[in-house]
Amino acid sequence: MTAGTAPSTPDSVSSAELNVYASVADAIGNTPLVRLNRVTEGIEAAVYAKLEFLNPGGSVKDRAARAMIDAAELSGDLRPGGTVVEGTSGNTGIGLAVVAASRGYRTIVVVPDKSSAEKISFLRAHGADVRVTKGALPTHHPDHVRNVARRIADEIDGGWLAGQYDNPANPGAHYVTTGPELWRQTQGRITHFVAGVGTGGTISGTGKFLKEVSGGAVRVIGADPETSRYSGGDGRAYYVESIGHFVHPDSEEDIWPDSYDRTVVDEFVTVADRESIDTVRSLARTEGLLVGGSGGTAVAAALRHARTLPPDAVVVVLIPDSGRAYLSKYFDDDWVARLGFDTRTSGSRVVEDLPIDTRVPFAVPADATVGEALALLDGREELPVVLARATPGPTVVAEITGAVERKNLLDALTTDPVTNHVSAALAVVGAFETVDAAVSRAGGDRRAVVVASSGSVVGSISAADLQAGES
Ligand SMILES: Cc1ncc(COP(=O)(O)O)c(C=O)c1O
Repeated sequence: MTAGTAPSTPDSVSSAELNVYASVADAIGNTPLVRLNRVTEGIEAAVYAKLEFLNPGGSVKDRAARAMIDAAELSGDLRPGGTVVEGTSGNTGIGLAVVAASRGYRTIVVVPDKSSAEKISFLRAHGADVRVTKGALPTHHPDHVRNVARRIADEIDGGWLAGQYDNPANPGAHYVTTGPELWRQTQGRITHFVAGVGTGGTISGTGKFLKEVSGGAVRVIGADPETSRYSGGDGRAYYVESIGHFVHPDSEEDIWPDSYDRTVVDEFVTVADRESIDTVRSLARTEGLLVGGSGGTAVAAALRHARTLPPDAVVVVLIPDSGRAYLSKYFDDDWVARLGFDTRTSGSRVVEDLPIDTRVPFAVPADATVGEALALLDGREELPVVLARATPGPTVVAEITGAVERKNLLDALTTDPVTNHVSAALAVVGAFETVDAAVSRAGGDRRAVVVASSGSVVGSISAADLQAGES
C-alpha cells in the first residue's frame, strides 16, 4: 500500500467479484450431491446423497434458521438488538445461534434435561443463553420446552420465538433453496426424493418444489422410524433422533406440525432402529460418510426403495447432519451392545445363553397401584417402571423411568400409586453382550438386571444367574 492512499475497505470490492461470501449466513446451502457407490451393490438405479452436514452449523437446519430470521427481520418481528428464542435440543438451535451471532442478536435456547453436554456446550460456544428444563413431558405441559420458550419470548423485550414447527419460513427455505439445488444438480433428472420427517420442513418444501417443477413426476418418499405416527405407527419411543413423531402417553391430543404438508409425501418406507444404526455404521466404513441417525434411516429407506427401481431412476437422499454428534451413541460399541443391537463377533458366551426370565409383562406402567404392581411382579424381586400406555406393546428401554422392588411394596397401601415407591432404574444389559461385559455393567447392588434386544426389553435375569454365567 502506498503511503497516503486509503486502504480499500471490504465494501469496495463486491463479494461476487472475489468469489467469497459476505457472511456465514450466505455460506448456507449449495451442499454437494455425492453418489453412493458401495452400499448400493446390486442396485441398478443411481443413488445420490445430499450432504447437509456441510452447512456452517453442521446441519440441514441452517437453511430453516436463516429463512426464519430473514422473514422475522422483514416483518419487523425481530428488530436490531432483539433476542431469538427457540425450544429445541437440536440442530435448529445451533443454526439459529450461528445466524444470530453473525447478525448481532442474542439467542436463548430452551433444551430438555436429557440433552447431551456436547450440544449444550456447542450452543454456549456461539454465545447462546441455554435454559435447561425438564424433558419427556407431553406437549400440553406448561414446562414442555416449547411452552417455556414461548413464555420467555413473550416476557422479554425484543424477544422473538422462531417456532420451527409452525413457521412457514421453515418449509419455505427448502422450497426456495434445497429443491432448486437438487433440480439444478441433477439437471432435472431426479426421479425420487427421500427424506426423514421431523418438523416436516425439509420434505414438504423440497418435495413441493420438485413436484411442481417436474409436473408431478418426482416421487417423494418419507423415511420414518418404525413406530412413528407419521407412517401409521403407535407413537412409541425409538432411538433415532430428530425425525418421526413420538407421542407421549400423557398427551391430551396428537398435534402434528403445520410445517409438515402430508399431501406432498407419496409413500413412507419405515425403518427399524437396528437398520438405521447398521446403515450409519456401514456408511462410515464403506463410503467414508459419517452421518447421523436420521441420515441412516433415510439412506436405509432409499436403498430399500431403489432396489425396486430401473437403471434410469435417479434417487436423491438427504443427509441432515453428521455422525460426529452421535459418536457416543450409534458409533459406540458399548452403547450399541447395552441396548441389545446385535454386535456379536466371537463365539463367547452371551447373555442370551443364560436363563432369562421372559415372563410378561416386563415392566410396570407408571399409572399402576401398589396392588397391581405386586400382581405384575408375580414373584419377581424387581421390575422396571415405564411410561404408562393405553395400548400394550413392547417395552422400549428409552421409556423406562425407574424400578419397583417387591420388598419396598410389601408394607405400602395396595391402593397407593406405585410412583410413590419407585427406585432408581435397573441396569440394562444387551442380549448379545458377552456375559463378562454384562456382569461388569450390572454392578453388584441390585438383585435383577433388565435384558434388552434391539432397544426393547425382552426379560430380566437375576444378578445371581448372571454372575454364575461368568467365565
Ligand atoms: C438430524 C435431523 N434430522 C432430520 C431432521 C428433520 O428435518 P425437518 O424438521 O425439516 O423435518 C432434523 C430436524 O431438526 C434434524 O435435526
